[in-house]
Amino acid sequence: MESITLSIDGKNITCSAGTSVLNAAQELGIKIPKLCHHPDLKPVGACRLCLVEDEETGRIMASCVTPVAPKMSILTDTPSITTHRRNIIRLMMAEHPESCLFCSKGNRCRLRQFAAQLGIGETNLYPMPNYKTLEQANPFIIRDLSKCILCGKCIRADHELVVVGAIDYNLRGFKSRPTTVHDRGLEQSNCTFCGTCLSMCPTGALSQNNKSYISTPALEALSVCGFCGVGCNLAMGYTANRIVEVNPSNQQDTVNGATLCVRGHFAHDFLNSGERLTQPLIRQDTEDANNKMVPALDANNKMVPASWDEAIEVVADRLLEIKNQNGPQSVAFLGSSKCTNEENYLFQKIARVLFNTNNVDNGGYLSGRPVMNLLDKRTDGVWRLSPLAWLEKAEAVFVLGADPGHSTPVVSYYLKRACKKGIPLVVADSRRTDLTDFSSAWLDLSTGNDLEPDYVALINGLAALLHEKKGHDDDYIKQFTEGYEQYSSGLASLKPKQVSRVTGIDANDLNATAELLQGKKIAFVIGSGILLQSCGMQAMEAVINLALMTGSLGFEGAGIHVLAKDNNQMGAQDMGAVPNALPGWQLLSNDSNRKRWEQLWQTEISAANGLNMVGMIEAAEKGNLKGLYIMGENPLCSLPQPDRVKKALQKLDFIVVQDILNTATVQIADVVLPGAAFAEKGGSFTNMEGRIQSFGPVVTPPGDARPDWEILGLLASKLGDANHYVSLGHVRDEIRRLVPMYEDLDKHTHTAWITVDGRREGDEIAKTKTIISFSPVVSCKGDLKDELSDKDYAFTAIFGFTRYHFGGGTRTGYSNRKLKLDFKGEIELSPQDGEKLKINDQDTVKVSSRHGEIKRQIRLSSRLSPGQIFIPLAFNDNDAMNLIAMTQLGEPDSPGWKTCRVKVEKIEHQDA
Ligand code: SF4
Ligand code: SF4
Ligand code: SF4
Ligand code: FES
Repeated sequence: MESITLSIDGKNITCSAGTSVLNAAQELGIKIPKLCHHPDLKPVGACRLCLVEDEETGRIMASCVTPVAPKMSILTDTPSITTHRRNIIRLMMAEHPESCLFCSKGNRCRLRQFAAQLGIGETNLYPMPNYKTLEQANPFIIRDLSKCILCGKCIRADHELVVVGAIDYNLRGFKSRPTTVHDRGLEQSNCTFCGTCLSMCPTGALSQNNKSYISTPALEALSVCGFCGVGCNLAMGYTANRIVEVNPSNQQDTVNGATLCVRGHFAHDFLNSGERLTQPLIRQDTEDANNKMVPALDANNKMVPASWDEAIEVVADRLLEIKNQNGPQSVAFLGSSKCTNEENYLFQKIARVLFNTNNVDNGGYLSGRPVMNLLDKRTDGVWRLSPLAWLEKAEAVFVLGADPGHSTPVVSYYLKRACKKGIPLVVADSRRTDLTDFSSAWLDLSTGNDLEPDYVALINGLAALLHEKKGHDDDYIKQFTEGYEQYSSGLASLKPKQVSRVTGIDANDLNATAELLQGKKIAFVIGSGILLQSCGMQAMEAVINLALMTGSLGFEGAGIHVLAKDNNQMGAQDMGAVPNALPGWQLLSNDSNRKRWEQLWQTEISAANGLNMVGMIEAAEKGNLKGLYIMGENPLCSLPQPDRVKKALQKLDFIVVQDILNTATVQIADVVLPGAAFAEKGGSFTNMEGRIQSFGPVVTPPGDARPDWEILGLLASKLGDANHYVSLGHVRDEIRRLVPMYEDLDKHTHTAWITVDGRREGDEIAKTKTIISFSPVVSCKGDLKDELSDKDYAFTAIFGFTRYHFGGGTRTGYSNRKLKLDFKGEIELSPQDGEKLKINDQDTVKVSSRHGEIKRQIRLSSRLSPGQIFIPLAFNDNDAMNLIAMTQLGEPDSPGWKTCRVKVEKIEHQDA
């Protein structure tokens, strides 16, 4: 690209053609005032505050929209420019209402800041305030468009970054304002309340609905979002040790840039909940036969406050006693996909070294870990290291069973931006999602042979068509794979008509999709529709095969992106908080892995896999498990069949729960240890891309609560561990030293990336010399037909998230803003079924499965086909879990947790 040299305020700079004068000045460290410019938005030159002067011609121009030219000589601060800037600000002020004193933007208003810098008090202009109605009906954003200066940042953020299109200019001239279609309230538009526009707004025209907060923030510190696996970077504003406002960090090279979603932006008020745990609690002691004080097991006994020493001593004594009396299989450790890497590392180490058990797991199981394990094993870890930025560089994107607009909203921004760039998007699902309207090919799997979508047949069918069209990548197949011949001979038997019959997708549409994908490297996006469904394992095998045949693994712009539900789901697994692997995804079944860790930790490690989360409940039911340590997980809300889970946990001799909130599981604990939330401690999370993001505390924990790593350090010391984990750095050093995947974890930098087999971020597959095998073509197993065709339960319930609530709803359930939202998780039903069953919007229905029932209101939705209902998770203490069978995910006879058969009955008013 052509280089251009120019001078700005007497300093020479050389930059590439097309660079704006504003950016060139910024590179020289020269500050130019600006109101409508943001580095992530297309410049529009709306505010004219960034004026500069051409020294030679005297021409005044807006620097943000003026490209550099050879031999330009620019001045950024001349009397003429100052006069113009003062006049611009005076005009804006004259149009502004006189409400600055009680504007929530306060000293952070850019208009006021520039007015002060330019010495403007009285404008000496006739005041012409442009009054607009104050809009504050929704719990997230207040709009006072009287204060709008028409910079257009909100509209551009909405269109260019999050690609929602909820707002645009309305009217022209003096009356023009950014507003919704027909000027309705935001809650009546398609606004997702991501708050990206709000963070961009330079004035008080858009502000947070702050009634539940105590003030505007005095200070700000950076952190990482504690909800989903995207790992957005946050700037958390705080006052008097309370988080009062959250915005995107706006740092360079973050996964979210200037965007967030409604949870990250607005739901962190749960941190200030009155239900936070603030002191250790022990269930009131009783004396046993040996006159030894032990915690009572009767759930009616009271919990009494205790010191940390007392609580830790009871935990150490009771768990050791159980292990010594009944063996290592009698204790288990359920860690957390929300806690940090450092905490999960310590947690599993305590289990393995101090209790000699592999009974250790974390909440990541709930997100379909068996399918992820399969992917990792089959690809030798090559699927990791998949920057989301690659989605915008892909040749084609294929989204399967994923609804990122709700589960991981920032991923949906990437996908929609990719579409806007013209990248073809194929979407396969059993119900229409936010992405359907953006897709080049929409593969509706709702009308196949069974009401459960057959992703396996679809993917294999497309692979067969691509093979027939010679759409495979010969070079890649030769260089990086083996077994293609056997695989492709299996494809030959698949006939498009048969695939079309099984999937319900017209043969012409299948053919058109194959043509769309032909010759392209594909970026796959995989969601819970595959991870949690009965045929998830087979579907993932089919995806891997299709990725290999199209050369789509291990290259920029391609890959398999799996949507991680929890913020540190990947890190908890990497740290070995799982029953089948040691830190660094090193399988227990591999002798050399195990021996290495035995040597490092000076202990013996069993080769047998321990109990996973579901296995723990089953073992407790049978009386084989007697002691359980739960850190940051609420199985009474997150697992299917909560009554069954509760009964099983109540059979335990001893249960310790370490958490931040007073959850249902806390209430049945024998000892409660109050932990610190992410914003109150340091550590690191690893996001779905493989980015390890470190952060420090923003505020201190409430009361006597402590960071989880500190609590685990106390316990390890009490149990005789000589390491004395007294600082976070100590734990991080150990991880960096012992876990090769985390060798780049560096306490001095904010972001590092995992390394996979020596491959770092940006390295392509060729670096690892990995050879990946094709697996034989398989079909979706047929032994679930009874479950699927049950006439008594005529509907298929699909379970999924909405963007407002999250996980089991434990944290978002304590967010005041979320509770004020006029959306109560209504069950969606197709209008056709509504008519057939005489069910209307807002009617209450009873939905029952073979395992339980729930009651909720209905919303008719054309996103669904007849025979389907959609049940949002995380509402009403996650009551939807009553309907699902608690089976081991990924097992051949498991119906999965994504769908189940139900009946739907309208409840007349008096029964509701
Ligand atoms: S509402 Fe704010 S961001 Fe939007 S145009 Fe007005 S001043 Fe700019
Ligand atoms: S909150 Fe998000 S979706 Fe709503 S208008 Fe603003 S940018 Fe658009
Ligand atoms: S997309 Fe995920 S990580 Fe980002 S703000 Fe939303 S919940 Fe947080
Ligand atoms: S910042 Fe350049 S015109 Fe507004």
